[in-house]
Amino acid sequence: MYTSFDESPLDKIITLLKSQQSEFLSGEKLSKSLNLSRAAIWKNIKKLQSLEYKIESKPKTGYKLKTNTPLLLPWEISDGLQTDIIGKKIYYFNTIDSTQNFALKLSQKPHENGSVIIAERQTKGRGRLNRKWVSPKGGIWLSILLRPNFELEQTSLFPMITSLALSIAIEKTLKIKPELKWPNDLMIKGKKVAGILIDVVIESNKIDYLVIGVGINFKIQPSKISKLIKNTQRHYEITTLVKEKQDTSPVELVQQFLLELEHLYNNVISNSIKDIRKEWIKRSSTIGKNVTATTTTGLLRGKVVGIDEGGALLLSNKGKIQRLLAGDITYTNSK
Ligand code: BTN
Repeated sequence: MYTSFDESPLDKIITLLKSQQSEFLSGEKLSKSLNLSRAAIWKNIKKLQSLEYKIESKPKTGYKLKTNTPLLLPWEISDGLQTDIIGKKIYYFNTIDSTQNFALKLSQKPHENGSVIIAERQTKGRGRLNRKWVSPKGGIWLSILLRPNFELEQTSLFPMITSLALSIAIEKTLKIKPELKWPNDLMIKGKKVAGILIDVVIESNKIDYLVIGVGINFKIQPSKISKLIKNTQRHYEITTLVKEKQDTSPVELVQQFLLELEHLYNNVISNSIKDIRKEWIKRSSTIGKNVTATTTTGLLRGKVVGIDEGGALLLSNKGKIQRLLAGDITYTNSK
């Protein structure tokens, strides 16, 4: 595990190499500036290379950074992150069972408000409705731990603000505009590109803590994942944001997403939620659709006529309006 707050020579070496631009930096200079032996510098350079930084080393000359890492290392995200709370602490794993589970464990500690847990791959990724979430290398799998001082009813706003923040961030950084599908899926041409899972721990009828889990198919092979989920219940089509050959870093998207999320989170705190719903509806493909909804109590059919202030879906059927707080919908025909 690497973090954004433990003192690490890796972070320092990479900062020095970056500041050097295309010049070589001598081992001696690195060793002096960091107060580390030449052997320790060499060991850390090897470590950085294993973290996919392309570093050239030339005997008697030194080291030069040729290309940055494609990995979401914590210091790469922290560098330039403009938030005040979200992402102040970042935990990074190469492989983990589920970032969501780690965040739930972290919540036992005080002072963890806003912590972000990120992994290159998950072995037991969790999706909504007890589904498995296939999480290979190339995706963005992260969880955010928050301790909001909110009433329970406000929980339903979190899927809305998270999906909205992600959609805005994707549009700003990648110039792609995903559609929002209730309750919190991000879709491109009808195929799922990201999903959100919220775990809430309640104490005395108040939110004690909340874990926002976000899975983004950033640079994955959709056919590979489709094969794995084909035979599962309610399987859906998936897509990727960035194609395999594209050389796009995920760092900017993650930073922008954390910033947009913090902004909307502050709006919820100050109770300015009207605009959030308006913007969500504007970006949504769900309003006006005829849908079949799977709920814990069975199937519901109807036409979507709105989304209320609490994020619930309003379904009209035979002149009656039904309110759906949680579940899963499939579109039964187009608008
Ligand atoms: C969905 O079913 O649409 C929600 C998927 C959420 C997946 C993310 S990946 C990071 C975090 N860790 C998990 O185990 N799940 C969430």
